[in-house]
Amino acid sequence: MNRKLSFIKSLEIQQNFRIQNFIFGLLFLLTACNPQQTETRERISLNRDWQFFKYTSDSLADQLIYDVRPAINEGNLVKDADSKPTEAVEVESTQKVLKDWILPTANDFINDSNNKHQRPDGNPGSDFPFVKAGFDDASWETVNLPHDWAIKGPFQTGWNSEVGGGMGRLPVNGVAWYRKKLDIPETDKDKRIFLDIDGAMSYAMVWLNGNLVGGWPYGYASFRLDLTPYIVPCAENQLAIRLDNPNYSARWYPGAGLYRNVWLVKTNPVHVAQYGTYITCENVSEKSATINLEVTIDNDSESDANVEVLTELFELKEAGKRAEEATAVFESQISEVKSGKSSEFKSSIVVENPKLWGPPPTQQPNLYVAVTTVFQDGKPIDSYETRFGIRSLEFDPEKGVLVNGELIKLQGVNNHHDLGALGAAFNKRAAERQLEILRKMGCNAIRTAHNPPAPELLELTDKMGFLVLDEIFDSWERKKTDHDFHLIFEEWSEPDTRAFIRRDRNCPSVIIWSFGNEVGEQYTEADGAAVARRLYDFVKEEDRIRPTITAMNFAKPLMKMPEVADFIGLNYQGEGIRQDPMFEGTERIQTVPMYDAFHEKYPEKVIISTETASAFSSRGIYFFPVTDKLSSPVRDGMGGDSEQMQVSSYELYAVDFGSSVDKVFAAVDSHPFVAGEFVWNGFDYIGEPTPYYGARSSYSGIIDLAGIPKDRYYLYQSKWRPELPMVHILPHWNWPERVGKTTPVHIFTSGDEVELFLNGKSLGKKKKGELTYRLRWDDVVYEPGELKAVAWKKGEKWAEQIITTSGKANSLQAVADRKVINADGNDLSYITVRMVDENQNFVPKANNQVEFSIEGPGNIIASDNGDATDMTSFTSLKRNAFSGVVVAIVQTTDEAGTITVTAKADGLKPAEIQIESIK
Ligand code: GAL
Repeated sequence: MNRKLSFIKSLEIQQNFRIQNFIFGLLFLLTACNPQQTETRERISLNRDWQFFKYTSDSLADQLIYDVRPAINEGNLVKDADSKPTEAVEVESTQKVLKDWILPTANDFINDSNNKHQRPDGNPGSDFPFVKAGFDDASWETVNLPHDWAIKGPFQTGWNSEVGGGMGRLPVNGVAWYRKKLDIPETDKDKRIFLDIDGAMSYAMVWLNGNLVGGWPYGYASFRLDLTPYIVPCAENQLAIRLDNPNYSARWYPGAGLYRNVWLVKTNPVHVAQYGTYITCENVSEKSATINLEVTIDNDSESDANVEVLTELFELKEAGKRAEEATAVFESQISEVKSGKSSEFKSSIVVENPKLWGPPPTQQPNLYVAVTTVFQDGKPIDSYETRFGIRSLEFDPEKGVLVNGELIKLQGVNNHHDLGALGAAFNKRAAERQLEILRKMGCNAIRTAHNPPAPELLELTDKMGFLVLDEIFDSWERKKTDHDFHLIFEEWSEPDTRAFIRRDRNCPSVIIWSFGNEVGEQYTEADGAAVARRLYDFVKEEDRIRPTITAMNFAKPLMKMPEVADFIGLNYQGEGIRQDPMFEGTERIQTVPMYDAFHEKYPEKVIISTETASAFSSRGIYFFPVTDKLSSPVRDGMGGDSEQMQVSSYELYAVDFGSSVDKVFAAVDSHPFVAGEFVWNGFDYIGEPTPYYGARSSYSGIIDLAGIPKDRYYLYQSKWRPELPMVHILPHWNWPERVGKTTPVHIFTSGDEVELFLNGKSLGKKKKGELTYRLRWDDVVYEPGELKAVAWKKGEKWAEQIITTSGKANSLQAVADRKVINADGNDLSYITVRMVDENQNFVPKANNQVEFSIEGPGNIIASDNGDATDMTSFTSLKRNAFSGVVVAIVQTTDEAGTITVTAKADGLKPAEIQIESIK
């Protein structure tokens, strides 16, 4: 048949098919369990109504273990981030372990067939009550996913707590089960039925109807299990998932449970494979672009199949709706796929006048969707969508990253996966809010420290136009903590790496793959480099387009590790590590500033500062005296207070191996070949509360755990958004105990000159010099009243800020980040409550206890105040304000209506706010 005709025929069939689908859908609803043909592919959320049970202690847990683990030998997790990772400890298995039945799940991601795993005979666990359909789980807790079993606490305080500060003092560890019944209609009898888990923390093992299906240990991985062989159509199918989340598995809070979305995917036996499309773009310009497409079709049927594959490209409009008219259609391809095999269909097409994807503010993140339809005997049997963007990427070792020809300096942050008070339980709106706050600061890039993110995070970065350094591992063979990834590296590093790349490689926002962070293999020269090389090859085999990087805090130019990856990723080394005289003679890492040395040794490699700063501060807290240096380590009396466990917000203090923001800016600016930086880090996260391990959450965020910017936020904004008129004064001006005392005032501005006034009297004008980023008046003598900063840029007035000494707290003021939200049981509104005096001036030291209540179709699911030391459960409706602020997170139900949130505090006027939840 003439190609064009075949294509038109296909389109007609497709349209008929859509109508048919609709009718079949209706029939299906009316006649569940009658043999009817259903849709080509269904993806059903399995998030609702799971039964959940967790053993109260590890010693009581069942012994259906994945593998034995080595004993803990490093005690509570109080360890500097840059401690040298050590060798793994070997353990012999003395128990029956289920690992051999789990490993075959990885087979699709192991390339050499000799290394694929054979499932042994037997069906371990089949007689364990929890996996059986008849087991009565009515007394278990009913939960919806995404679910983080640890986040509600209680926090474990003290130095002997089971879970230490490093992992956030929350009960993450232990064995737990999730059970759910699946309704599988008779219509599904010839279908392939897959369980897609976007993330399970951790060591997931899955049974269906008493059969051990498989599992996946790495808690950050997305994975698929083929349920088909165990499904009984037209019957209740009992799913049971066992998780076993070890203590000492991470240097931060990992979360616990089925903490991301879970899906049931149904396809015909001949179907597009998991992650079965790969789209790359070539010769991209505003005039045209070549789009290359590879589609992998699996034939899980018993006969060979002659299939036709047709892909249409559509623009994705606002709100993710696809345009009505296709932008381009690939020539359809017909080929045979042998029974039990897979085949690849490759084609290319030129798109005229493509709408390019690029980062704002100078570019737009335009997206397309490729809709692939698979036909067999002229009938559509699968339809599969791939979101992608058309953009060119160039990497220039003298300049950095060019997107569509434009040089984009990386103004990036590192973020861990937790969403503050919501824990690890993924919520798309919570992630979107984080990105919105970062965008306002001028951030244009995210490093997913140090693990694969939720897939929806990349949906958001694609949609919003962030550049992503997508990272997979914090450790390889050598260990940082006793139970981290090194335990499973040997068997899972290949499948984890391949699955990670295949999942994310069509995302336009992903520009670089990172396959390691500060790994111990930096120290082992050729041996370490060989491990790196193996991972590098996996990455390159899965994606030939994007460059790779590993983040190095120790390896030097003449060592082996930097040879391997395409780019050089430096953690803290560019600015120099432990250069303060107080570190003389230390045995810890000490490094002189290294940008030039790396550039000289590797002139062909782009250099990115994968981690900078690790500056510390507690929002709204200021200690005196203030260092006159640009960057200082934190000690008692030097920016820190170990009793209060808080760090001063003058934003001059950093972790011992880190540097203040100003010092980083100067180092990067004086090395224009550096492609940019990823700050450690964007949002405070649970765990790793350096320098005070008695606390629960970090101090290094630019934004606190509740999502409130610290002073540092405005320092980044002043540099990263030079077009935005802004000026920011610190500290606050409520110091009754400091009257007559020197109280330095520092100012961040996107202007070039500032005049500071105290109670109307000018304290002089100061101008930014080269490589200076803050203006400081270090000898201001405190008197209450009004501080005013007037900023100028190129001789014109640019911005102004006034802060006023407040009186006593008198009332609460509530603001919602969104006042109209969706009645979908997921959406969120963040209510920020601030304490003000009778003249509506903010009261910066108020710490009154606030009690929230709610009426209408919504729930307050968490509260927070950004205080790293606050051990009140995140689910509490009562919380003390911290530096005058407290936040409540409201979630909708499925019902529409008006939600009213009230905040009360003893002796203060309450605040009330309405939110509309709409369908
Ligand atoms: C780095 C490490 C990060 C984090 C940070 C804290 O060395 O890569 O994961 O621990 O230090 O300062």
